[in-house]
Amino acid sequence: MRVGIIGAGSMARALGGQWARAGHEVAFGARDATRAAAAARQLGEGARALEDPAAAAEFGEAVLLAVPADQVERVVARAAPPAGRVLIDCTNPIAGGTLTLTTAGGPSMAERIAAAAPGTHVVKAFNLCHESVWRRTPPVFDGRPLAVPLCGDDRAAVALVGRLAAHLGADPVPAGGLDRAGLLEATTAFMIGLWFAGRDAQAVLPPLAYAGGAG
Ligand SMILES: NC(=O)c1ccc[n+]([C@@H]2O[C@H](COP(=O)([O-])OP(=O)(O)OC[C@H]3O[C@@H](n4cnc5c(N)ncnc54)[C@H](OP(=O)(O)O)[C@@H]3O)[C@@H](O)[C@H]2O)c1
Repeated sequence: MRVGIIGAGSMARALGGQWARAGHEVAFGARDATRAAAAARQLGEGARALEDPAAAAEFGEAVLLAVPADQVERVVARAAPPAGRVLIDCTNPIAGGTLTLTTAGGPSMAERIAAAAPGTHVVKAFNLCHESVWRRTPPVFDGRPLAVPLCGDDRAAVALVGRLAAHLGADPVPAGGLDRAGLLEATTAFMIGLWFAGRDAQAVLPPLAYAGGAG
């Protein structure tokens, strides 16, 4: 699959590296073309650099937005993929100091991106874990593949992003429409708060068999 990546930072390289290794054609488009070139060089075979974000948006059957949340709408407005393409939103609209949502009281960031790129199929994914987790090959912990929640309205788009998650060695979990993406963004802010406090966020949830009142 052709995967365009807008940005050339940590998430771009982590996920791009996995997809290039899995045999996908990965192309970076960054505002600084030398950084896109450095990212492509670091990944080696299967990765290339394009001249700018718009070229990456044009290139990808799927396009990963790997830029800061406070920039992403502006970037998408200037570099929107053609209608029908899949737009992967991994951004976290979270204020660094307070760990609150910068989108509070309004649409989720994923919904804002969808509004900025009409006709594309936005899927919220890969935002819940640190970039170092996405670099793990594979992201399996205690024998259990990492589950990756996916929120999006278009079934085929969610399935496509699910395949990209599976190619990391993770377990894709369709988790509802784009109207659920805000909950995923808030969950991430909440989990980061626990992790920053040194708590095991995974431990706050019971096993599935006990989740609905059994036992
Ligand atoms: N890091 C994580 O562990 C992690 C985990 C989950 C989700 N996320 C989300 O993933 C996204 C990317 O995070 P990251 O850690 O990869 O950030 P990063 O390493 O700082 O990389 C950000 C990239 O965005 C580019 N960028 C910044 N402002 C831009 C603008 N106005 N126009 C075009 N490009 C711009 C940067 O270009 P320059 O190099 O030129 O500045 C860089 O290529 C964020 O939304 C973040 O919330 C991050």
